[in-house]
Amino acid sequence: MRVEDLVYFCAPSRLVMGAGCRKQLPALLRRLGYRRGLLVTDTFFTGATPWVDELVAGARAHDVELLVCDGGMPDPTTTLCDAATAAVRERLDGMPVDHVIALGGGSNIDLAKALCLTLPGGKPVRAFLGSIDPGTPILPLVAMPTTAGTGSEATPGAILVDPDNATKVAVMDNRLRPAVALVDPEFTYTCPPRVTADAGIDALTHAIESYLTIDSASFDRGGEADPGYSGRNALTMLFAHESIRLCGRYLLRTYQDGSDSEARIGMSYASVYAALSYGSAGLNAVHGIAYAVAGQTHLSHGTTNAVMLPYVLDALADVRREELLAIARLLDISDGDAGIAVARVPVVVRELVAAVGLPTTLQACGIGPGDVDALVRDALAVTRLAKAFPVPDVAARYGAMVRKAWAGTLSGAAHALAQPRRVA
Ligand SMILES: NC(=O)c1ccc[n+]([C@@H]2O[C@H](COP(=O)([O-])OP(=O)(O)OC[C@H]3O[C@@H](n4cnc5c(N)ncnc54)[C@H](O)[C@@H]3O)[C@@H](O)[C@H]2O)c1
Repeated sequence: MRVEDLVYFCAPSRLVMGAGCRKQLPALLRRLGYRRGLLVTDTFFTGATPWVDELVAGARAHDVELLVCDGGMPDPTTTLCDAATAAVRERLDGMPVDHVIALGGGSNIDLAKALCLTLPGGKPVRAFLGSIDPGTPILPLVAMPTTAGTGSEATPGAILVDPDNATKVAVMDNRLRPAVALVDPEFTYTCPPRVTADAGIDALTHAIESYLTIDSASFDRGGEADPGYSGRNALTMLFAHESIRLCGRYLLRTYQDGSDSEARIGMSYASVYAALSYGSAGLNAVHGIAYAVAGQTHLSHGTTNAVMLPYVLDALADVRREELLAIARLLDISDGDAGIAVARVPVVVRELVAAVGLPTTLQACGIGPGDVDALVRDALAVTRLAKAFPVPDVAARYGAMVRKAWAGTLSGAAHALAQPRRVA
C-alpha cells in the first residue's frame, strides 16, 4: 500500500491462463450466451496450425458458429481495418455477430479490437480516434495472444498505423478491454526467435516502464471519468515487479531454446503481469520515442522499444533510484554498493537486448545524425506519453536520451566494464 495512491485499476473481465486452456473456450463461449462470432487471425494460423479448425469445430459442437477472417497483417493499418470491416460485413450479409475472437500476436488482437468498434455500424475506424461516444455499440472480444508479448489482451487500446503519415494512432476505451483474455502459452511455442525476442523485450519494457512511471496521485487524467491509464500505484507495481523477475529469468531462455516450455510459460505470465501493470498505470518515454523511431525506420515495435529502454533507464537514475535498485536485484545484479548496482541496470538491460539479437544504438537502426532533432520533436509530440515521464524537464531529457541512444553512451558503462556480468 502507498498512502498517496489514487487507484483506478482496469483489467479484462475474465483471465483464463494455462498450458492447453484453449480447449475450454468452446464451452465458455456457449456459457456466455454467444451464438455467432468472428475469428480474426492471419494466414500463418489458418495454414500452419490446427488451432483455427479445432476452435471452429469445437464451437460448432456447442452450437456457436464462427466466421473466420485470416486477413491479419503485422502492424495493421487503418486502411486494412476498413477493408476488413467492409469485407466481413459483406460476408455477414446483414446477419450480425455477437462477439469477436482474436488469435495472434498484438497485430491481430489490435485489428480484432478495432473490428469490435467498426463492425456494428460500418464506419471507418478513423471516426473513433480521439474519443469514443459512450453510446457507440462495441462487440465483446475474446483475445488469445500467440506471442508473449504485447499484453493487448488486457489493455483498452488498439494501435493502428495511419498510412498517410506512417505514424501510429490509437482507438482507446475501457470497453475495448477483452471480455475474455485466454492465454494459452502453448500458442507461443511456434514463435521463431525473432518474434520471441521482439515480443519478450516488449513485455520487459511494459513492466519496467510502468514500474517507473508517474505516480497515480500526479497523473493528469484530463477530467476523464473512466481513464484507460492513470499512473502507477501499489497494485500495478506488484504486477510489474513480478513481471520483471520473470523476464530476467526466462526471456533469454525462450530466445535461445524455443522448446523450453517452462521458459515459454514463464514469459506468458511475464507478459500478462506486465499488461496488468501498464494496462492501468500507462507508459512513457520508451514507447513515446519508440513510436517516433518506428515512424522513421519502420522497424518492429519490440525492436524500437529495445533500443531505447537502456537509455531511458539511465536517465531515471536520479528520480527513481529506489525502484532501480529493486530492478537491479530482480535482474541478479548483486553489487553491494547500491550506487553501482543502480548504474549497472541499463548496462545489463543493454546486454540482454544485444543477446537477443536486437540493436543497441539508434545509429544501428539506420537513424542519421541529421534525423535526431526530428526524432526528439516527434517523440515529444506524443504528449500523453511525454507528460507521464516522471522528471521535471521532459523536453531536455528526451533530447539527451535520444543523443545518448544514438551514440550508445551510458553513464554506468564504466562500472560494468570494471566487473563484467554474464546475462543468464
Ligand atoms: N494494443 C496494445 O495495447 C498494444 C501493446 C503493444 C503492442 N501492440 C502492437 O502489437 C504489434 C506487435 O505485436 P507482436 O509483437 O505480438 O507481433 P505481431 O502480432 O505483429 O506478429 C509478428 C509476426 O509473428 C507471427 N506470429 C505471431 N505469433 C506466432 C506464433 N505463435 N508462431 C509463429 N508466428 C507467429 C505473426 O503471424 C506475424 O507474422 C504492433 O503492431 C504493436 O503496435 C499493441
